[in-house]
Amino acid sequence: MTDRLAGKAALVTGASSGTGRAIALTFAEEGASVTVADVRRDPREGGTPTDELIEESGGDGQFVETDVSDVDALQTAIDETVSAFGSLDVMVNNAGVFPGLQPISEVDEEDYEWLMNINLKGVVFGSKLAAEVMREQGDGGAIVNLSSIAGLNGFTDSSLYCASKGGVANLTRELALELGPDGIRVNAINPGVIETAMTTEDEEVAGTMLEEIPLRRDGRPEDVADVALFLASDESAYVSGHNLVVDGGLTAGV
Ligand SMILES: NC(=O)c1ccc[n+]([C@@H]2O[C@H](COP(=O)([O-])OP(=O)(O)OC[C@H]3O[C@@H](n4cnc5c(N)ncnc54)[C@H](O)[C@@H]3O)[C@@H](O)[C@H]2O)c1
Repeated sequence: MTDRLAGKAALVTGASSGTGRAIALTFAEEGASVTVADVRRDPREGGTPTDELIEESGGDGQFVETDVSDVDALQTAIDETVSAFGSLDVMVNNAGVFPGLQPISEVDEEDYEWLMNINLKGVVFGSKLAAEVMREQGDGGAIVNLSSIAGLNGFTDSSLYCASKGGVANLTRELALELGPDGIRVNAINPGVIETAMTTEDEEVAGTMLEEIPLRRDGRPEDVADVALFLASDESAYVSGHNLVVDGGLTAGV
């Protein structure tokens, strides 16, 4: 523990599983109090709930059942964070879904609303509500959004996912402009293939691109969590509006 987030309160959406779970655990190890905001408490990959692990290791963690597509639920998760930990200093809009490969000819309105409401609306309102609290606190803050390399490049049969993650990538740049004068930094992470339930269960992507990945391995949730820690901490004090690719070099030649 190096206490890079000592005294900070963080809210991580989708933190029961995968990458969000690794981010929450890393933040707690670095001294942050963490709200785990998710539609489910049990990790998709199995194991002890994230908030329980944090508490067991002597940190401050709480679970707040939250559907990020519901603005009132997001507000509740933020209010519960401030009420339990005294502030909201770091907001990580991580919750997201991947519908599997789907040609545009098969996309219908229901698919669109489901995916966009979680992947894009959840980030828009998560950022808006977090910024309101951070502005009121008057001490700046950090917002970290989970986009994807699919937010910067096209991937076939992934129209809705690409549209949502492209929205997150550019929303991040825009929010950096609006919120910078209040000392609130806004950055995004653009992972490549990370080994989580999303790439092993929702769609069997993990392990299929190793020849194309220069580092010859899929990413681990901890690879993304370390970058989130950098973007949440004062080590990135002059970094805002950035989309940081974490893909083992996969898109370096694109
Ligand atoms: N795994 C990858 O290869 C990869 C690559 C690029 C980007 N991403 C992005 O990283 C983020 C995390 O993905 P992951 O791989 O950890 O996925 P995951 O499926 O392992 O975990 C996602 C978590 O989000 C939660 N969640 C889903 N819908 C929610 C909702 N409406 N409200 C609140 N929580 C909800 C789930 O319950 C789950 O705990 C997502 O935004 C994803 O799009 C993942």
